[in-house]
Amino acid sequence: MKIAFFSAHEFDITFFDRANLDFHHELFYHKERLHPKTAVMAEGCDAVCAFVNDSLDAPTLTALAAGGTRLILLRCAGFDRVDLAQAEQLELTVLRVPAYAPEAIAEHAVALMMSLNRNIHRAHDRVREGNFDLTGLVGFNMHGKTVGVVGTGKIGLALTRIMAGFGCNLLGYDVFHNPACEALGLKYVDLPELLRDSDIVSLHCPLIPETKHLINAEKLALIKPGAMLINTSRGGVVDAQAVVDALKSRKLAYYGMDVYEKEGALFGEDLSSTIITDDLFERLNTFPNVIITGHQSWLTDTALNEISHVTLSNAADFVAGKPKAENIVQQPRAVAV
Ligand code: NAI
Repeated sequence: MKIAFFSAHEFDITFFDRANLDFHHELFYHKERLHPKTAVMAEGCDAVCAFVNDSLDAPTLTALAAGGTRLILLRCAGFDRVDLAQAEQLELTVLRVPAYAPEAIAEHAVALMMSLNRNIHRAHDRVREGNFDLTGLVGFNMHGKTVGVVGTGKIGLALTRIMAGFGCNLLGYDVFHNPACEALGLKYVDLPELLRDSDIVSLHCPLIPETKHLINAEKLALIKPGAMLINTSRGGVVDAQAVVDALKSRKLAYYGMDVYEKEGALFGEDLSSTIITDDLFERLNTFPNVIITGHQSWLTDTALNEISHVTLSNAADFVAGKPKAENIVQQPRAVAV
């Protein structure tokens, strides 16, 4: 099958070329983002392989279908950028990689937590400057602290396992209860109670209409003073302006973010020689108690191996007329909060 890749990085080419030795698809890599104007680059390809910040809105899907595309291969788990109604109307099949390495994301959430807690980012900068002063670097013991997990699916469970190992108390909020989390000692509560009682809140739910700005000014007003918020889910789950306000009022003491609502204009590009015009992002970037990474939670060799193999096998299954039911993208099963 001919597959056009968008937003292709060097690491994608390395891992996909290696995985393709088992599949023999024809792969065409484009470093450009997918949007209505670049969709023409997929002309003549049966499938398009897209990543988290590629746009799969109605105009893009229409242009792809007109160029002969029949299959959308998401090389990620999230599908919030796909207009599923339009895909269905155009008879485009959408396949994804639902669970490539939940531990990769959970471990990155813990990396953000621990860096913020122990001021690793600030200590690193100081030591490089020959400044060994410890002022302002006091952290806290994780042992005995309460961690609130919002969304206790695959990644939430992986995080729960790690936090149980740290000796943390565990609270959870989800529209479904996960017995594997409960077996690790996690207690389900409602969201206000989780926010009031947690020292650290980590977000692991999908971005769907019900979770858009789930963490907003109203919810941040409930959060335990001095708490830490970690977001490795999707930027839109958090109202970033409300987070800035909560940081300025010192209600929220730490924020670790790997995702940002308007990340499409920033992440994945080298903008170091340009002027960034997103003032909200730039404000977040000025706090000493905020750490930002550019949507890299998933980026491990284990994840890339899994993503490349499952994506190319999704393409092969489609050709054989037997796509795996669990990889077909459907509307989330969640209900309103
Ligand atoms: P999952 O589907 O296994 O778990 C999601 C959980 O969220 C489910 O238990 C679901 O019931 C729950 N949920 C749904 N609606 C909810 C609501 N309104 N309130 C609270 N919980 C709700 O998904 P998984 O694999 O754990 O991934 C979670 C999210 O993490 C993905 O949707 C994606 O957006 C994000 N992600 C981020 C990555 C990164 O690199 N930063 C990489 C991979 C995923």
